[in-house]
Amino acid sequence: MLTLRSPAKINLFLRVVGRYPNGYHSLASVFQAISLFDEIHFSVDTTKTESDQLSCTDPTLPTDHSNLILKAADLFRRKTGLSFSLRAHLDKRIPHQAGFGGGSGNAATTLWALNQLCGRPASETSLQEWSGEIGSDIPFFFSHGTAFCTGRGEIVEDLPSTQKINLWIVKPAIGLSTPKVFQQVQLDQLMPRDPLHILKEFSLGYPCYFNDLEEAAFLVHPGLRDLKALLLGAGFHTVLLTGSGSGFFCLGDCSPPNMADLWSYPVSFLNRIKNAWYS
Ligand code: C5P
Repeated sequence: MLTLRSPAKINLFLRVVGRYPNGYHSLASVFQAISLFDEIHFSVDTTKTESDQLSCTDPTLPTDHSNLILKAADLFRRKTGLSFSLRAHLDKRIPHQAGFGGGSGNAATTLWALNQLCGRPASETSLQEWSGEIGSDIPFFFSHGTAFCTGRGEIVEDLPSTQKINLWIVKPAIGLSTPKVFQQVQLDQLMPRDPLHILKEFSLGYPCYFNDLEEAAFLVHPGLRDLKALLLGAGFHTVLLTGSGSGFFCLGDCSPPNMADLWSYPVSFLNRIKNAWYS
């Protein structure tokens, strides 16, 4: 039995660079892990090959093979040739349809756990490479927690850990569908910022926080624009949609307003040390 924490992420900047013929978008983004976790309990039985079992504290989440935890188990079996049945229990705390990468983190955490429980047949690099087959944001979690991600998001370059910043994350009651938001991106309307230049500015301590998916998310749900204005009005100097939303992160020396239907949580940046999972 193994219990691991599965962290969330935010995107400090997210540039949509283009669209591939298969409909996916090429991105350039700095991903940062944050101290908001799901907890997952894992056990494997190598004497049984009957079906996997997943349970979850959130009844709205699927626990069949559409869940990334079970997709990760299938991937691990396919890649290693091992036979086992997995039992997993997910204590869900990260809001979903929010851009915090909760499901992707769960998949990465599952691959890490299975590798530990099966005697480490795979290297971290292999786990990272394999994980891109089941989701674009999963490989990031095999970085040390701060990374520059390109391609669909699956090409991951570790960056030095940034200064430990405290921030708030917030999410309205509505969630957003990632494909729907990407479909609304108007490539010719985006500011032609050079991601490598922005990355350099970040490393020099001059961060430029922006998200090319923000306008697209506002088109899908116009109320998000009002929420951003409200949070800026509350005193934050930076309020930015993370991923495809509907969650935001907020920087500044204040707290989000106490409102019905607005979930908020204080977090800090998170990094992991080599050969250990996030804690
Ligand atoms: O890779 P993942 O399954 O997380 O992607 C979910 C959806 O988000 C894709 O089906 C696609 O519509 C959109 N997407 C995209 N470009 C990316 C990543 C995701 O268009 N780089």
